[in-house]
Amino acid sequence: MLGMGVFHEKTSCVNKKDKHNTVWNSNKDMKMLNGKTVLIVGATGGIGAPICRVLHGRRANVVLFARRREKLDALHRELGDKGVLVVSGDACDPVAVRKALFETEKKFGRLDAVVIVVGTWGRLSTENSIEEAAESIDHLYKTILLPTVVMGQGALKDMLNQPAGSVIFHISSHASIRPYLKGNLSYGAVKAAAEAFFERVRREIGDSHVKIVDIRPATVNTVELPGALSKSSKAEEMRKKGATQEKINEWIAEMCKLAVQPEEIAAWIAENVGNKKVPSSMLFDSELVLD
Ligand SMILES: NC(=O)c1ccc[n+]([C@@H]2O[C@H](COP(=O)([O-])OP(=O)(O)OC[C@H]3O[C@@H](n4cnc5c(N)ncnc54)[C@H](OP(=O)(O)O)[C@@H]3O)[C@@H](O)[C@H]2O)c1
Repeated sequence: MLGMGVFHEKTSCVNKKDKHNTVWNSNKDMKMLNGKTVLIVGATGGIGAPICRVLHGRRANVVLFARRREKLDALHRELGDKGVLVVSGDACDPVAVRKALFETEKKFGRLDAVVIVVGTWGRLSTENSIEEAAESIDHLYKTILLPTVVMGQGALKDMLNQPAGSVIFHISSHASIRPYLKGNLSYGAVKAAAEAFFERVRREIGDSHVKIVDIRPATVNTVELPGALSKSSKAEEMRKKGATQEKINEWIAEMCKLAVQPEEIAAWIAENVGNKKVPSSMLFDSELVLD
């Protein structure tokens, strides 16, 4: 039978308590990526930009792909020209995806990994109206599922045609496997659908030299997080009880430390570029849950 025994899920998990055992604290053993090429889709985002910095810092060639040119140019200036290619475009557009892959091949001659880190979050719960449900699922389909599938399909075509092993890192969310997280009716469903797409791809390609990993972070410490915490019910409660802004800021800083750090995800990706035994999913857990 095709691929029998190949498709058991290999899942790994990291949470705060495990950190002393993990690779990113161990500079002396840090894996360098000299000459390896990674295309980052969503390169300028809260998670994407730290991933670009870490991979480039480990001497990978990085291809920065996103829509807004100004943000791409700012990241390009920060990283410098060496080992950097910038391609602006919409990952929902097959023409833009083909262009990014073509330019990557032209400049670096290889593609070792793609990191798909596009998308956003949107709240939907049973309290919302039917109209809000329709709007939310439509928005998340267009901002998460569509670019993920178009980019994933494009990357696969190139990767399956090249002889060397390669990997697609799909930044999913812990919401895909935690249906009890409130307010995630549409977001959790869309993330689960993106994972379902890749699971079917794994089954079609079998025990291939192309690997696909669903990375499932809990809340990540991005530039957006302090603002989100400031609007949370806990911050509101603190205000009502008379807490000063300084006290609230201290609490926000503590919460940001509890979140998953984007550099942890980046370091794990760096360690697993070229790993033929990379697990098919990876949970980055945290005790911080936003309401
Ligand atoms: N932040 C968290 O706490 C967290 C936790 C778990 C999972 N995640 C997931 O991680 C992913 C990234 O989150 P984030 O917080 O880094 O989001 P973000 O800061 O909004 O970044 C999104 C990135 O994707 C790019 N992008 C968006 N749509 C695109 C498209 N159609 N084509 C090309 N580029 C596109 C954006 O740049 P342009 O707008 O210029 O294109 C930006 O670079 C999302 O899927 C999110 O659900 C986030």
